[in-house]
Amino acid sequence: MRLTVLGTGYVGLVTGACFAEMGNHVTCVDRDAAKIQRLERGEVPIYEPGLEPLVAANLRQGRLRFTTRLAEAVAGAEVIFIAVGTPPRADGSADVEDVLAAARDLGACLDHDAVVVVKSTVPVGTTERVEALITEALSARREILTVDVAFNPEFLKEGDAVNDFMRPDRVIVGSRSARAIALLRMLYAPFTRNHERLLTMAVRDAEMTKYAANAMLATRISFMNELATICERLGVDVEQVRVGIGSDPRIGYSFIYPGCGYGGSCFPKDVRALIRLAQDAGVDAQLLRAVEARNQVQKRALFDKLTARFGQRLAGLRFGLWGLAFKPGTDDMREAPAVTLIAQLIEAGATVSAFDPAAMTAAQATLPREWFEAGRLQLSNDQYDALEDASALLLVTEWKQFRNPDFARMRSAMRLPVIFDGRNQYDPARMAAEGFEYHGIGRGGRGSVEAAALRLRAAG
Ligand SMILES: NC(=O)c1ccc[n+]([C@@H]2O[C@H](COP(=O)([O-])OP(=O)(O)OC[C@H]3O[C@@H](n4cnc5c(N)ncnc54)[C@H](O)[C@@H]3O)[C@@H](O)[C@H]2O)c1
Repeated sequence: MRLTVLGTGYVGLVTGACFAEMGNHVTCVDRDAAKIQRLERGEVPIYEPGLEPLVAANLRQGRLRFTTRLAEAVAGAEVIFIAVGTPPRADGSADVEDVLAAARDLGACLDHDAVVVVKSTVPVGTTERVEALITEALSARREILTVDVAFNPEFLKEGDAVNDFMRPDRVIVGSRSARAIALLRMLYAPFTRNHERLLTMAVRDAEMTKYAANAMLATRISFMNELATICERLGVDVEQVRVGIGSDPRIGYSFIYPGCGYGGSCFPKDVRALIRLAQDAGVDAQLLRAVEARNQVQKRALFDKLTARFGQRLAGLRFGLWGLAFKPGTDDMREAPAVTLIAQLIEAGATVSAFDPAAMTAAQATLPREWFEAGRLQLSNDQYDALEDASALLLVTEWKQFRNPDFARMRSAMRLPVIFDGRNQYDPARMAAEGFEYHGIGRGGRGSVEAAALRLRAAG
């Protein structure tokens, strides 16, 4: 099939490369000329495991092309995906301007029948607006074409996006067009071969399903973070509680890991967009507001623990920070908890030396230049270098290489053997045995008692 994908971000590029891999001819179009130039050379501008070889192979075999010219990109395309960004506005609502602009541009240049599929995450009612804008633009040009519209949310997760796209748990198609559904069923058949996983529903139901999925996952995380805070006060280890409840099949283990808050380009913005959508519909989304508020508090949890430990004397201290990306497996730093923490530390007069296995270039490009120029934030080439003379390690993102590090080497590099573990990666008993003062999230009981004992010992 001939396909076009608008937007070559995390979603668009993965979509284009995976469809090309299944034998389709895909043209990806983006308004960012620099990005397109890199992609034409086979360079993938984002870190996403498995994506670069997929792009390179399909480019070489002539099934994947990149351009900035929309009219050229849609020529002969049977299905056109809109996968452009929908960033948050200041009031929390999703900014769908790029999606609507894409619809207008399509209406201005389409010259053949096609199916247009919205893949961006959009508020309920947006796909209907896309359809209306295309129809309007076509009739202004007196073009009589059949352009069917569908909404097909994307559920991939960054860090495992190719895998998720290739083996989806389900594919959701919202459309009232039998032709659109039939084409999408055909297109997705190679990905859903083992058993039928394509669910069809009304467009608005599908739009809501995407927000509901992210809101549910964010709710589980915020629930656990709140529970962790209660555990800490009551001398309970939340990690024991997590295993205890996760073993209940009605609950399960996913998305119940307490930590220093969720980030990224989806959960925060989608929860806020849903709150706003509810508000516009006259509903006060109390639970979702609490999910969001708890996350804001949680993103400051490590800093609060630091001030509880060091008092107000953070000025002049140096901290080693592991993990800048919002989660492991990606270089995406949008709304990353590490950014909130670094900002708080710099504000308090401290210095940060940070390391991330994938997000160093993104950090250099997106974090405030004055942090670097003033020498308040340094990026280290190595996780151990980041700990030189550090008063504590702050573990913010749980990359695998941080799970079982060389503790002796860490201890000898650091000024003080103190760990603030924002992802509960380490066992408090092991940390005590290794000679570290350990602070986790919600690790009342063992963790805090041992940390207190160590502190007393260190104080003589
Ligand atoms: N990132 C994820 O993990 C993820 C997962 C599921 C759904 N989504 C949703 O998918 C959408 C895209 O997310 P993303 O993370 O890939 O975004 P992104 O910001 O990484 O990429 C968006 C791309 O679209 C391009 N673009 C914007 N307007 C354009 C236009 N009119 N024509 C051509 N190109 C245009 C931009 O230049 C950019 O390259 C969003 O709605 C997001 O909520 C994202």
